[in-house]
Amino acid sequence: MGLNVDLFEYQARSLFEDHGVPVLPGVVATTPAEAAAAAAELGGSVVIKAQVKIGGRGKAGGIKMAHSAEEAAKVAADILGMDIRGHRVEQVMLAPAMDIAEEFYFSVLLDRAERSYLAICSMSGGVDIEQLAAEQPDALARVAVDPLRGIDEAKAREIVKATGFKADTAEKIIPVLQHIYEVYREEDATLVEVNPLVLSARGEIIALDAKITLDDNADFRHENWGDIAEIADGLGPLELKAREHDLNYVRLAGTVGIIGNGAGLVMSTLDIVAEAGQRHGGQKPANFLDIGGGASAESMAAGLDVVLGDEQVCSVLVNVFGGITACDVVARGIRGALEALGDNATKPIVVRLDGNNVEQGRAILTDYAHPLLTLVSSMDEAADKAAELAHHT
Ligand SMILES: Nc1ncnc2c1ncn2[C@@H]1O[C@H](COP(=O)(O)OP(=O)(O)O)[C@@H](O)[C@H]1O
Ligand SMILES: [Mg+2]
Repeated sequence: MGLNVDLFEYQARSLFEDHGVPVLPGVVATTPAEAAAAAAELGGSVVIKAQVKIGGRGKAGGIKMAHSAEEAAKVAADILGMDIRGHRVEQVMLAPAMDIAEEFYFSVLLDRAERSYLAICSMSGGVDIEQLAAEQPDALARVAVDPLRGIDEAKAREIVKATGFKADTAEKIIPVLQHIYEVYREEDATLVEVNPLVLSARGEIIALDAKITLDDNADFRHENWGDIAEIADGLGPLELKAREHDLNYVRLAGTVGIIGNGAGLVMSTLDIVAEAGQRHGGQKPANFLDIGGGASAESMAAGLDVVLGDEQVCSVLVNVFGGITACDVVARGIRGALEALGDNATKPIVVRLDGNNVEQGRAILTDYAHPLLTLVSSMDEAADKAAELAHHT
């Protein structure tokens, strides 16, 4: 017997999109700076939603509006790290704020007792469905769905009729229910729940929230589940972000963040830091991060973003030997990352550059004169400095 795997809203939203269920654009962020960028990308007012595998986020203060990129960063900073009934918020999803006319409820689930599927639909959505079922059982339409037939147009019609939708709303909802059922069947879900399914002020039907439970027994049938399963296995948001940028990243347990180019160099950096750490209160490397031999300014910026986003990190050591990627490119990446992070960068960064274009690279960082940056010339010195800084912050 396999496990049921609950998805985060943003993952469920993405499966909805794959199957033609109307959803709003959604962008995931793990830091306030990313939330600001996402808000700017979406434009206008946005809703910032805590990504935790538990409902009732709205009531718990995990869903808030923001009207500018700046406000989005502030709101995201409040929500990230929040505890919602035992679930720590590591990621938020931003979506455009929409004008809602009505909120409905729809779900399809496996009815084990009846050995059948069950569709539940209500014109009162956006509320706690268990409570609604207890207090107003008549507000919920329950319609059995034959697994061999599924929700075709006739079945969808039966469901909207049993629920009591007005004719024009019913016509708009019918195809959406069929698409939601397609998600249920094709993704081998045991539950797909949309609460609320809304009618917007502009008359569109949109799935505003998305909950999916997958039947893990079926994962051999779904290549697209790869990432999802790993998330369920505990792959954290930092690892996911690193993977997005093709960075080779492994989180460890220490306090000194490490970034280097080339696996060999990074490994020897880990060793030297561990050794230096013994002279500074037992500091240890916080991660392995190789930005690669042909690293770009962007990969350095992404690497710094990942490492600085790790709460256990107290100092960062950037150790680069300019080869294919020259030191000036790396230096521009560091400068770019610090500019993008602005006030969110709060940890000291020790940089050791050597190799191709080392003079230009050092000149860029010396001119930049960022208060958090320390330039050193040897690897031993760099490791010692980084461990010392980690010890004193
Ligand atoms: N994009 C949005 N625009 C406007 N209101 C929203 C948006 N997303 C959610 N809401 C409001 O927040 C409520 C709760 O959001 P929801 O995604 O259902 O989270 P939860 O069920 O965990 O509380 C919704 O019922 C809706 O009223
Ligand atoms: Mg909801």
